[in-house]
Amino acid sequence: MGPLAFSILRLLNDGEIRTIDHLAQSLKVSPNRILKTFDEIDQCGVVLKKIPDLGIQCPEPLNWLDANEIISNLPQTILPFHFIILDSIDSTNRFLLDQVAADFKCLHGNPVIITELQTQGRGRLGRRWYSGLGDSLTFSLFWRFNCSVRFLSGLSLAIGVALIRALTHFAIKDLTLKWPNDVLFHSRKLAGILIELSRNIRSGSAVVIGIGLNIQLSNLAKENIDQAFVDLFAITGRVIDRNKILAVLLSELSAVLIDFNHFGFSYFRNEWVRYHAYEGQLITITLPDDTIVTGVVDGVEFDGSLTLVSETGEKKSYSSGELNLR
Ligand code: BTN
Repeated sequence: MGPLAFSILRLLNDGEIRTIDHLAQSLKVSPNRILKTFDEIDQCGVVLKKIPDLGIQCPEPLNWLDANEIISNLPQTILPFHFIILDSIDSTNRFLLDQVAADFKCLHGNPVIITELQTQGRGRLGRRWYSGLGDSLTFSLFWRFNCSVRFLSGLSLAIGVALIRALTHFAIKDLTLKWPNDVLFHSRKLAGILIELSRNIRSGSAVVIGIGLNIQLSNLAKENIDQAFVDLFAITGRVIDRNKILAVLLSELSAVLIDFNHFGFSYFRNEWVRYHAYEGQLITITLPDDTIVTGVVDGVEFDGSLTLVSETGEKKSYSSGELNLR
């Protein structure tokens, strides 16, 4: 969706009915271009209401991202974040990784890239992450660690803990984690985490942490998602301001990241196991080479790998793969 579509939506966000001519004059383009851009908006899953003889209206205003709103909801004591809010981008992780690769020294504070629309969201294991315009929180955060990369195993599980802690602030109960880090509500996926390593770091290590959280998914996004999913609207029956949720998420994330830097995953291990949806259950893991292993879940190791007990009583840990309930 191009800049004109975003300008139209921002104008219509007050819920007023506007004629095509009014929109065209305000945005200094031809009425024809406005009409063509309506198709673009439609293809993004945003529903505009045509009112005969009167004009067009946006019946459900979008909850736009706003850096000032996010900052005003952050605790004063928190480390400085540098917010970049984009209307549309293929992937916030891709964008931030490229920024780091291009000029690491130019990054101020802890950069956070957030987008209203992500068109090629990346998921774990090479999958796609689908979301529509304004219907999710899709963002990436850059973070540096003093330790080397090999001590970062388990980081993605610790981030899952931060997400559960943050969502608990909104009185959302019954959230669980599915190894390594899917956030579930009643076995349906609410949020996903994708951590990618930054490569050109001289000392210590650094990562881009990408998070997708379903807020109130559009029908279009729902049609594309190929697994059991849920959004916050379905859980709570209300639309929670994305700016507020992001502030709370960032606050919990920075607390977890600081502790992780000092103590590693072991600090979060017990809490993680408490949240695990499949602790003590018979599951399968599909390993990266497509081998399928079956066993009963027996916690996680200090590096975040999942421990399974086989039928013969043998214990073995796995550091990557796709977990499924038997
Ligand atoms: C998963 O497969 O569960 C991980 C999904 C991660 C999606 C987020 S959305 C923001 C960030 N940018 C991306 O391209 N992916 C992550």
